[in-house]
Amino acid sequence: MPIFDYKLVRPLLHRLDPERAHGLAITALKWGLAGRDRMPDDPILGCRLWGLDFPNPIGLAAGFDKGAEVPDALLSVGFGFIEAGTVTPRAQPGNPKPRLFRLKADQAAINRLGFNSDGLEPYAKRLLQRWGKGGIVGANVGKNKETEDAAADFATGTARVAGSCDYIVTNISSPNTEGLRALQGRRQLEKLLERVLGARNRVMPGNPPPLLVKVAPDLTPAEMQDIVEVVLAAPVEGLIIGNTTLDRPASLKSPDRGEEGGLSGLPLMKKSTECLAEFYRLTEGRLPLIGCGGVASGRDAYAKIRAGASLVQLYTALIYHGPGLVRDIKRELAECLRADGFEDIASAVGADHR
Ligand code: FNR
Repeated sequence: MPIFDYKLVRPLLHRLDPERAHGLAITALKWGLAGRDRMPDDPILGCRLWGLDFPNPIGLAAGFDKGAEVPDALLSVGFGFIEAGTVTPRAQPGNPKPRLFRLKADQAAINRLGFNSDGLEPYAKRLLQRWGKGGIVGANVGKNKETEDAAADFATGTARVAGSCDYIVTNISSPNTEGLRALQGRRQLEKLLERVLGARNRVMPGNPPPLLVKVAPDLTPAEMQDIVEVVLAAPVEGLIIGNTTLDRPASLKSPDRGEEGGLSGLPLMKKSTECLAEFYRLTEGRLPLIGCGGVASGRDAYAKIRAGASLVQLYTALIYHGPGLVRDIKRELAECLRADGFEDIASAVGADHR
């Protein structure tokens, strides 16, 4: 089935509570109703990282498929890779509802879901069941709300998924779990990564999946510098920049702009891209970076790549544009690359810094 016309469905979906609409989207994906992008990807979009061949650099960010229920249906829509999670070791309900808000006039969202999760066991089983099918799927790991020894949760999650995913993400940047963002501090991060890398390497001593750290876009330059020193020394294989922001730009117009939680979508594009550029500068291009925050077009994806991203992710724009957006982004990104004379993604990474 080709990708359906989302413009027809959106008004109905957006009349529903956002979490219900999300549940329906997952159900539609399970039933194969979201369609598939049958066009092979333009070869200019291919990229190789960590020994993995990405057909295109546009990925689905964490939070959409928290339970790893539909990664293959999402790959069919045309994403180059899918990040499932965040998963917590034990099942937990997350924060009381309502906890997800559409900011339509701002093409944005605010969420304070607080890691609602079915827990690690069903998640890991689903990943294992599909392992070997092809298509790149990463596992985003978090901690339970009540856990005091955060590193223990991260190590448990990491060890459980290491054998059945293409990369692992240590998510220390969701604003809705108390104390989580403090793990971005130098000492805590050093200790955390030692435990997480230890757990991964014990389970997969030969050829472990790459470990990435997902950071907030709200860091000060000094905090960024600390993170760079720790992740290069650890060493981890990449950074995702970044998660939702606690900022509330004065430009926000939507009635729900005052809700607590993390802001995502269009108002995050500029800030998260500046943060990404700073991380690229600090790492001198030595560490692959995934740019995430506010991407809604091929031009946005191209801006992230020029700022230093080797790969790009999105979530919120899907709420407003539907699955056909992925194909449109890929087409426009290929046009941007050609217009500037690039032969592939890799040669455009960090172009703004040269
Ligand atoms: C998220 N995001 C997120 N990130 C993460 O690492 N783990 C998670 O569980 C979630 N959950 C989540 C739920 C919802 C409803 C949203 C909108 C977002 C953050 C997401 O992966 C991404 O980093 C930000 O949303 C910024 O990208 P976009 O949405 O502006 O493209």
